[in-house]
Amino acid sequence: MSAIVKVENLVKRFSEDVLAVDGISFTVEEGEIFGFLGPNGAGKSTTINMLTTLLRPTSGRATIAGLDIMTRQDDVRRAIGLVPQDLTVDDELSGRENMYLQADLYDVPRDEAKRDIEELLNVVDLEDAADRLVKTYSGGMRKRLELAEGLIHHPRILFLDEPTLGLDIQTRSAIWDYIKDLKAKHNITVFLTTHYLEEADGLCDRIGIIDHGKIVALDTPATLKRSVGGDVLTIGVRSEDDLTGLIAAVPGVISAKKEDSVYRVKAVRGEEATPEVLKAIWEKGATVTSVELSRPTLDQAFLEYTGRSMRDAEQSGSFDRVAASHAARRRR
Ligand SMILES: Nc1ncnc2c1ncn2[C@@H]1O[C@H](COP(=O)(O)OP(=O)(O)O)[C@@H](O)[C@H]1O
Ligand SMILES: [Mg+2]
Repeated sequence: MSAIVKVENLVKRFSEDVLAVDGISFTVEEGEIFGFLGPNGAGKSTTINMLTTLLRPTSGRATIAGLDIMTRQDDVRRAIGLVPQDLTVDDELSGRENMYLQADLYDVPRDEAKRDIEELLNVVDLEDAADRLVKTYSGGMRKRLELAEGLIHHPRILFLDEPTLGLDIQTRSAIWDYIKDLKAKHNITVFLTTHYLEEADGLCDRIGIIDHGKIVALDTPATLKRSVGGDVLTIGVRSEDDLTGLIAAVPGVISAKKEDSVYRVKAVRGEEATPEVLKAIWEKGATVTSVELSRPTLDQAFLEYTGRSMRDAEQSGSFDRVAASHAARRRR
């Protein structure tokens, strides 16, 4: 494998107080699905916009397929496909007409376009709906059309900015399958951004966690989760006393934190530590009101690296149904 994207110390400052991208460096290997995971305002779109030559960096450098984004803009644009955050398809045209329009924009010869368009519509399962006006499409169908459009000129790398934003969970997981399928069939590299933890976890080979314009961690999802260090045991306790010290001293426990009447306990092996911790609490005469054992998640990794949970970080941002339902579940 070799690096298809190389980024060195890239910076975008919009104004005195808005430093959107704060000196990021990373590489994307040919053939991987690479994701930027971060809350709203982290600098994800700004990074994509710089790499796709829509926005001029303040400083730093980057190459795509060996082409400098500052000096070889036209060549970069031909080498990449882009599916931006906002919908780009024309509502008043059919799916197939949109595809032909896109092919024309990229000067794809007609006979080649004809063949490729049918093949791409097939991969995203839009053959039957291809002659309907896009305004009759669902959100998921539009997104599938955009994915297909992004590949019409055979780019080596496809940039996807929040590819499943606002879609319901079933549609999102279908889109993930289409992305994997397109990647495999077209032998391309994918660079995507997301603020959905499940998306980064399930889809990406490697993830850069981005917060306030900086990459705070970069690795495979499995390694990021492992780096959290152990399982997390959450125990609700009714007691007059603070049992933090007692719990922290149980063998196998790495650390214990108290938040109101809930203890967050990290343990090397949750299934072994749980009975010991419960025993220690009961021996103190305290009542256990709830017990939950969880394996490390990307949300915990995010918390570890940024000091706040992804869900909390999102609260200042736009409404997110999934985050909201998670928060509701946590409150119960
Ligand atoms: N054109 C712009 N002018 C000024 N500030 C901007 C502009 N675009 C983005 N920003 C700011 O830069 C920061 C990063 O934004 P963005 O890259 O869109 O984040 P994300 O895509 O991760 O949600 C935010 O504080 C945002 O308000
Ligand atoms: Mg964005």
